[in-house]
Amino acid sequence: MSSQLEKVKQLTTMREKARLGGGEKRIESQHKKGKYTARERIAMLLDEGSFEEFDMFVEHRCTNFGLEKEKYFGDGVVTGYGTIDGRLVYIYAQDFTIFGGSLSETMALKICKVLDQAMKMGAPMIGINDSGGARIQEGVNALAGYAEIFQRNILASGVIPQISAIFGPCAGGAVYSPALTDFNIMLKGTSYMFLTGPKVVKAVTGEDVTQEQLGGASIHSTKSGVSHFAAETEEDGLLLIRKLLSYLPSNNLEEAPAIECNDPVDRLEDALNDLIPDSPNKPYDMYDIIGSIVDNGEFLEVHKTYAPNIIVGFARFNGMSVGIVANQPKYLAGVLDINSSRKAARFVRFCDAFNIPLVTLVDVPGFLPGTQQEYGGIILHGAKLLYAYGEATVPKVTVTLRKSYGGAYCVMSSKHLRGDINYAWPSAEIAVMGASGAIEVLYSKEIAASQDPKGCAAEKEQQYTEAFANPYNAAKYGYIDDVIEPRNTRFRIIRALQQLATKKLSNPAKKHDNLPL
Ligand code: HXC
Repeated sequence: MSSQLEKVKQLTTMREKARLGGGEKRIESQHKKGKYTARERIAMLLDEGSFEEFDMFVEHRCTNFGLEKEKYFGDGVVTGYGTIDGRLVYIYAQDFTIFGGSLSETMALKICKVLDQAMKMGAPMIGINDSGGARIQEGVNALAGYAEIFQRNILASGVIPQISAIFGPCAGGAVYSPALTDFNIMLKGTSYMFLTGPKVVKAVTGEDVTQEQLGGASIHSTKSGVSHFAAETEEDGLLLIRKLLSYLPSNNLEEAPAIECNDPVDRLEDALNDLIPDSPNKPYDMYDIIGSIVDNGEFLEVHKTYAPNIIVGFARFNGMSVGIVANQPKYLAGVLDINSSRKAARFVRFCDAFNIPLVTLVDVPGFLPGTQQEYGGIILHGAKLLYAYGEATVPKVTVTLRKSYGGAYCVMSSKHLRGDINYAWPSAEIAVMGASGAIEVLYSKEIAASQDPKGCAAEKEQQYTEAFANPYNAAKYGYIDDVIEPRNTRFRIIRALQQLATKKLSNPAKKHDNLPL
């Protein structure tokens, strides 16, 4: 055999060894836990055969605790690039079979390299996390590595989409990389995120709590909002990443890819003309409206189980990607509270950063009153949503279906926050407050003094409803561009978006804004 052939053979052998990560036994143990390996995950996620790996032969440099005797090619993370639906993406997947995927100095260098490359190329970055945290033997070098990654996540924020999948443990300061990225996908039952684990919690607070109760997918997708999606299986989680990317541009200078639309743009939905209940206090399901107006009824919901009083997610109109924000009257009457304000503000800002037009469907009775909300800072959190809509320069189309009262009227993509096209259904009630509340404030003394208080209240309510609980008062001032027939909503939104396709608007130059945090 020629010496060159021998060298090629040696390369093949080394590659085979690298592909085994921490070895067959640990791969088996990973499979036994119902988890795939880093390489299997990448292969499932990317277009077949598209993965190109970087730094396969990188090894750690640590000499503490006898670690110099235990080295693996690749050192705990698989990195590189490939394509999803033919579009370039960069990826890292932590390899739990090597030191539990714990982060070393060299692992951080590998991750930083792909992040830097993703930024240069303007391509999305996907991180699959499955790690015991900082590699304990490396001490401060591991911490430094984390901070280098965080710094890059921060600079990449708003420039390229960053998606984190949590497919195993993600603990300690390690949680901050996913927290800095745009979307977190967790797995029910097998992934968890927390700053301090159950043992430390017990020692510090005396609280007994399991990993799942402390930071499982169910907690982060319902209570904390840290996780945007909770998938059942790794396969589902990976498919979700592919689907999510289909709605997003590769970077902030591009538009999201448009797809061919086979759903008629002028499809009328007669049922919408008779959908709003007669009683303003009776709920209906906002999903019915979203499903009937978007292309083929397809809606990728973000934060589905967190703050369900507001709905956010991606859909398409005539093949064009849009971000939908909609109050949900079926849950807490669609009121704006701390969590729903934060949820929607983050989504609006994401869409604006990535040139995705916003379609807002309004049915909101106002902000949730009470000490719990006030003490929790609803003033600041509500201001986040106000701020997000006000600073957004993407096309903004708003349809008010029913209630739009008080401060919530201003917040929900109103004309005054540079809403481009604001429509209302004939059932809309755009006013400072609902009729019964207004009568109470304005006429309580008169009603009490009247010989027929009930009749007097009914009469006043009727007068108020006629004068204010309708869309025409707002339309009279041009705050509503048109009152539309509900069944035409799809067509009118598509027309509006087409008209706005070349919209140019920018904000004053500044170092950065000072969003109320
Ligand atoms: C070095 C680690 C490690 C770590 C796991 N391993 N975590 N090695 N540093 N942080 C190694 C184990 O020694 C083991 O090696 C292999 O990975 C698999 O770990 P197991 O414990 O056998 O797996 P499992 O039972 O599934 O438990 C997984 C685990 C547990 C829950 C993640 O390993 C664990 O609690 N690890 C420590 C977590 C931790 O406290 N990390 C530091 C967090 S603080 P062998 O050779 O046996 O296969 C932090 C600060 C970051 O991260 C700050 C950033 C700013």
